[in-house]
Amino acid sequence: MQPIISVKDLCKTYSSGFEALKSINLDVRKGEIFALLGPNGAGKTTLIGTICGIVNPTSGKITVAGHDIKADYRAARSMIGLVPQELTTNAFETVWGDVSFSRGLFGRKANPALIERILRDLSLWDKKDAKIITLSGGMKRRHMIAKALSHEPEILFLDEPTAGVDVELRRDMWNLVRTMRETGVTIILTTHYIEEAEEMADRIGVINKGELILVEEKAELMRNLGKKQLTLHLQAPLQEVPAALRDYQLELAGDGNDLVFTYDSRGERTGITALLADLGDAGIRFKDLQTSQSSLEEIFVNLVRDRT
Ligand SMILES: Nc1ncnc2c1ncn2[C@@H]1O[C@H](COP(=O)(O)OP(=O)(O)OP(=O)(O)O)[C@@H](O)[C@H]1O
Ligand SMILES: [Mg+2]
Repeated sequence: MQPIISVKDLCKTYSSGFEALKSINLDVRKGEIFALLGPNGAGKTTLIGTICGIVNPTSGKITVAGHDIKADYRAARSMIGLVPQELTTNAFETVWGDVSFSRGLFGRKANPALIERILRDLSLWDKKDAKIITLSGGMKRRHMIAKALSHEPEILFLDEPTAGVDVELRRDMWNLVRTMRETGVTIILTTHYIEEAEEMADRIGVINKGELILVEEKAELMRNLGKKQLTLHLQAPLQEVPAALRDYQLELAGDGNDLVFTYDSRGERTGITALLADLGDAGIRFKDLQTSQSSLEEIFVNLVRDRT
């Protein structure tokens, strides 16, 4: 299937000379939830901005549902809803007025029933006549989401949708995003909450210093997450893993003093019992052992650190 968003060799150097994006290649599939993770300043907002036509790319090619974002800007942009990281809006307009106006900007016919449903879904209905300046921070964010949804986009970008939002609202937003996905909307979100990516995403991309260093199915990452390690501290160091133990996923560490066994905790059998028996048969004794498990957070931190 043709990707709904295609980014090819995208580079962005700001006028200051700063290289914010270094040859990014990314395909987003129609109907998926794609989470973009990365530390502050990695280039997430810049990448989203170029796809939405707000930031001018230095080189590269971007298409949205086949529309080139430069040559065919209007067609591409009309498919996209954007909830920006920085909240900017007309403070003295009412919630209802601003959201309705937003729909009109995209040339859509007025649809009060739709706007009402959006505001109700976002628990903003009782604030519909309030001026935006009188909303709380979390309500302002919900208002921005309402605006982005007002013109019924097929693709929704959420740049840090749940930053500074309380736990309950975060859950509400996750539900809303899932409901939207069920109606076929493609969703790209950035987040600093690893658990959010874990909970929501079909695929995860990690960006660091302007480079996309990993794009993977979440399920695949979760399988990695299921990987556990058993470390045996040996009584006497080994030069190499004995031939009799080749069938196990074993590695020597700590100058041969530690034997590290990697296993899948989700498998029916971990193989630990058999390993311990075979170790005994091979005359290998250990004085202590410990287990550890990698989390998505660790995977993420390691990925980003390895590159610095
Ligand atoms: N208008 C600009 N001019 C010059 N440099 C910029 C501009 N906008 C962003 N940058 C730089 O580009 C880099 C990437 O910024 P970007 O906002 O894309 O990061 P981010 O991944 O969204 O970070 P955060 O998690 O903090 O939102 C940063 O080093 C930033 O200082
Ligand atoms: Mg950002």
